Amino acid sequence: MIRARITATGSYVPDTVITNHDLEKIVDTSDQWIVERTGIKERRIAGASQASSDLAYAAAQKALKQAHLKPKDIDLVIVATCTPDMAFPSTACFLQDRLGIKHTGAFDINAACSGFVYGLHLASSLIRTEAHRRILLVGTEVLSRVTDWQDRATCVLFGDGAGAVVLEGTKERRGIMSTRIQADGGLGELIMLPGGGTRTPCSKQMLLKKMQFIKMKGNETFKVAVRTLEEIAARTIEDNGIDPSQLSLLIPHQANLRIIQATAKRLNLPEEKVFVNIEKYGNTSAASVPIALDEAVRAGRVKDGDHILLEAFGGGLTWASALLKW
Ligand code: UT7
Repeated sequence: MIRARITATGSYVPDTVITNHDLEKIVDTSDQWIVERTGIKERRIAGASQASSDLAYAAAQKALKQAHLKPKDIDLVIVATCTPDMAFPSTACFLQDRLGIKHTGAFDINAACSGFVYGLHLASSLIRTEAHRRILLVGTEVLSRVTDWQDRATCVLFGDGAGAVVLEGTKERRGIMSTRIQADGGLGELIMLPGGGTRTPCSKQMLLKKMQFIKMKGNETFKVAVRTLEEIAARTIEDNGIDPSQLSLLIPHQANLRIIQATAKRLNLPEEKVFVNIEKYGNTSAASVPIALDEAVRAGRVKDGDHILLEAFGGGLTWASALLKW
């Protein structure tokens, strides 16, 4: 049996740092409120000339270098993003061209913050069925362009970045052991970017109503996130016939430290088994899990044979998990 295995990781965040103290100067907020309610201290913001595919390119190059692969070795490019360069061509097509990869498939998937873990579900299935041999999967976001910098309820939360992985087939009993994806479209209104699509196309009226920005009912979203992530995490572990104590590391979506702690508590995981970098980057949506995974790998926190649980939650609503044996 062929399984998909992550053989390399890479990530990129823009240089510009916006601290909580910087935000205190533009909206009615405080460093104390943001740290206590979210765990975020600062976030990165893309430069004026940087779009999602530029961040994706930087992350992908690092992953390909770590894998000792040339772009031509890749046979499929998937990009998870809810902030694409434009409606079409897809961000994956821009990335494919920039990397100099020819004649492979390339497409985007959008499951908002769960996009990367949804992408793992898809890529893992495509490798298992031997439809593809080597897949480049990237989560990339420039959320700063769709953030209302006058709305304190959302502008303190988000940041920009990208994370990439290379997935290859293996006959060993390791790699992506299982995945779960779920959605509840009925709760879509809790977090959405309503303007600019075919429902409410770009117009002066739309811009006046600020519909080009993320709208979120934070507290309601928070409650659903805690409930669904606790459940999907526990089920994913059960699927693999292991006990939570056998997990070496939980790498969660970095949306809110209190959500991360709730999942960790439910699994009875000590702090050292939970990877957290939210203080540096805030919520980077589909880029959050692959950036965290890359940082965990490079920090030596992921070792051969380790069981690692990834999970994410976001707009849709969507949520997803993956159990890896490294
Ligand atoms: O990744 C996609 C999924 N997203 C998430 O999972 C995010 C989920 N939600 C959250 O992380 C939290 O709900 C937030 C961090 C967004 C908000 O935290 P909260 O504890 O749920 O606060 P709240 O929305 O209930 O607001 C509490 C108070 C309100 O004031 P009043 O009505 O009590 O006077 C808000 O107006 O905090 C106020 N508030 C702020 N105060 C200072 C909201 N934003 C801010 C702010 N600074 N930035």
